[in-house]
Amino acid sequence: MAEDDAALIDFYPYRDRFKTYHRLEPQGRERQSILDELAAMAGEEDRIADLGRVSGSIYHGGHDHYAFLTEAFRLFAHSNVLQRDMYPSATKLEAEIVAMTSSMLHGDAGTCGVVTFGGTESLINPMLAYRDRARKEKGIAEPEVIIPVTAHVALEKAGHLLGIKVLRAPLAGDWRVDVEWVRRLPRSRSSVASGCTWTHAWEVSSFPGAKSSATRFRASTSASPASPRCRPTPTSTASR
Ligand SMILES: Cc1ncc(COP(=O)(O)O)c(C=O)c1O
Repeated sequence: MAEDDAALIDFYPYRDRFKTYHRLEPQGRERQSILDELAAMAGEEDRIADLGRVSGSIYHGGHDHYAFLTEAFRLFAHSNVLQRDMYPSATKLEAEIVAMTSSMLHGDAGTCGVVTFGGTESLINPMLAYRDRARKEKGIAEPEVIIPVTAHVALEKAGHLLGIKVLRAPLAGDWRVDVEWVRRLPRSRSSVASGCTWTHAWEVSSFPGAKSSATRFRASTSASPASPRCRPTPTSTASR
């Protein structure tokens, strides 16, 4: 086995225990055998999380809460929320999530948002909103975003997809962004600065000079809802 394969082996612990499917089989499987296999994997994987030594990734350790979530998801697992006329609960629930997030982040009546899936989409959306606002309101044709070296790599993905140049700001030595380095940059093309250092700290307040930088660059974190000015309703949601 090549050295690289050996290093990756832990990512594929089921290779030797369960069949690997490379195409749809002509014959289906018994439901129970599928459930048994999934339960075996889930049980082993939960044991790691249940040790209580995982930071990040797992946001609640209670199996009673997992059961409650499962019950709620079960009711809508088959719903296609594109069909908002058939599933208006999606509109209600999404608007409430946006409103709760907006209230935590001190949004106002003009704040709007959309529920996204996963970190990458959640970063692409605000980057798109900031890019388009910078283009419209400031005439910035070649946008740049300034992020700490510790910010999540998904911001690079968003930059790549949206044609935004990503500048990586160094840290000042206390895990916080070197704001002086940011201040020395030419200002004309920056449409947004991220104060979020994913791997080390989440608080916007840990971005020293956030207020003054926000005035210049409109500070944002990957947790903030995209907030272009839109319909002046308390909790409007963008349609997909
Ligand atoms: C802050 C942050 N941004 C982006 C991502 C990327 O998320 P995903 O792999 O779901 O696209 C993560 C994932 O952990 C994250 O924590």
